[in-house]
Amino acid sequence: MSTPTPQAPEPAVHIDPYERGWMIAAISMLVVFAIAVAIASYSLGIQLPAPEARVDPNTITTSGPFANPGLRELAPGRYEAYIVAHGQGWYFNPRQISVPAGSEVTFYVTSADVQHGFKLEGTNVNMMVIPGQVSTLTRRFETAGEYNWVCHEYCGTGHAAMYGTLTVTP
Ligand code: CUA
Repeated sequence: MSTPTPQAPEPAVHIDPYERGWMIAAISMLVVFAIAVAIASYSLGIQLPAPEARVDPNTITTSGPFANPGLRELAPGRYEAYIVAHGQGWYFNPRQISVPAGSEVTFYVTSADVQHGFKLEGTNVNMMVIPGQVSTLTRRFETAGEYNWVCHEYCGTGHAAMYGTLTVTP
């Protein structure tokens, strides 16, 4: 009587070669995207706009930093810009700020009423402006010129008129 010859064990999971190829492609893309996100955030300084703080939209015009909005110079070449978006009358307060070239500006933007947007043309400064929340982003301005910001969230009849200007002087 002969013992049965042992057979090679079946592989636990059979993967079709095409499926294996697509799995490798999908995982490779995830790795590429993760590397791209890491390079963008650590090397290129591209940041997500983060909610900086909460404020009461009913009291921002009477107390806190937004009661007196505008530009504050922290140090030579270092500025903070406090800006309030108003949906009644559709304007930004202030509508115009000016800094010398080479300055770094941190924008703090909030809304007095409804949801607005803040997009500084030609830059990656692009935030939603939400009542009750302060949106913030920092950017350095090396090149002199005029940078217009616009409201890019539809906020009512006067939405298209909501803009302002950052002037970077030589
Ligand atoms: Cu404010 Cu659109």
